[in-house]
Amino acid sequence: MMPETLSVKALGGYIELQLPEVQEYYPNFIKLNTARNCLEYILRVQGYTLIYIPYYTCNVVLDAVKKINIAYQFYHVDVQLNPVLDFTVAPNECLLYTNYFGLKENTVKALKEKIDNLIVDNAQAFFSVALPGVDTFYSCRKFFGVPDGAYLQLSSEDRLSLTSDVSVSRFSHLIKRIDLGAEHGYADFIANNVDLEDNEIKNMSALSRRMMKSIDYEACLEARNDNFNYLHRSLSSYNELAVDPDSVNGPMAYPLLVPHQGLKTRLIAQKIFVPTYWPNVLNWVSSDSDEFYLAEHLLALPIDHRYDRDDMNRIIDTLKELL
Ligand SMILES: Cc1ncc(COP(=O)(O)O)c(C=O)c1O
Repeated sequence: MMPETLSVKALGGYIELQLPEVQEYYPNFIKLNTARNCLEYILRVQGYTLIYIPYYTCNVVLDAVKKINIAYQFYHVDVQLNPVLDFTVAPNECLLYTNYFGLKENTVKALKEKIDNLIVDNAQAFFSVALPGVDTFYSCRKFFGVPDGAYLQLSSEDRLSLTSDVSVSRFSHLIKRIDLGAEHGYADFIANNVDLEDNEIKNMSALSRRMMKSIDYEACLEARNDNFNYLHRSLSSYNELAVDPDSVNGPMAYPLLVPHQGLKTRLIAQKIFVPTYWPNVLNWVSSDSDEFYLAEHLLALPIDHRYDRDDMNRIIDTLKELL
């Protein structure tokens, strides 16, 4: 199917989905289909011989690395999500670090001073500004109701020649959740996630790009900060993760790290959906490691633009009964 943007513009006829047209948040970055493909793009262009990857990350990040056959080594992060740098990164090697939940901007800045070939995964940190000269990528669908899409700041001027993705077949969960409710769209969400696997590097689809131009980013950022700070005021005394309130800049979720078992299931039973970051980690590390503890015990509480104080109070009240 050829995207319409490549053919002559159609005039007249039926009217398409109507969205406001404002501006993208990162108009000058490279626009791709997924964050994992941004990593592949960086590795193809920069030609590193080895990449250091945190054990505490999503398996699709590793898929991108395996796809291009570059050597890789895992490294540990501690329970505060800081890297354990007990190795040296050689000049032709690079280190990937995730800006966890969008709360690790200070760690990213400190790493930039130490590591020449730093790659920052801002998939969980849409609003964190990329540092000058640091290859940095973002995933749109973790923050907004879009099927896919990613932004890449690349320090090299080299560009790959790409075709454009088409996202229309990965759209159903977004509209089912509105029309039928979250549970009815869930199977489609999973299927559409699977569809993103083995999807080659392409430019962001016209659909995702158009949707990314329609968002009130200031309102989204403000809602996230407000909800995050509100949860933090009530839950910080329980939280084993040290959160610096000054580093809050539109984070992805409120990460609550508590030793209790089985909380996730009990929250889900109350229709408070809390994902696991990341199930693959439980197979990658030993059960006495910090990453295992994080994957098992960290509750990523929703704080996004869809929610207000009443919703946050429901989360707090439910948790306080369980803690
Ligand atoms: C930390 C992290 N980086 C990268 C990705 C990949 O993002 P995308 O689905 O846009 O490829 C994910 C999740 O899928 C993730 O959790």
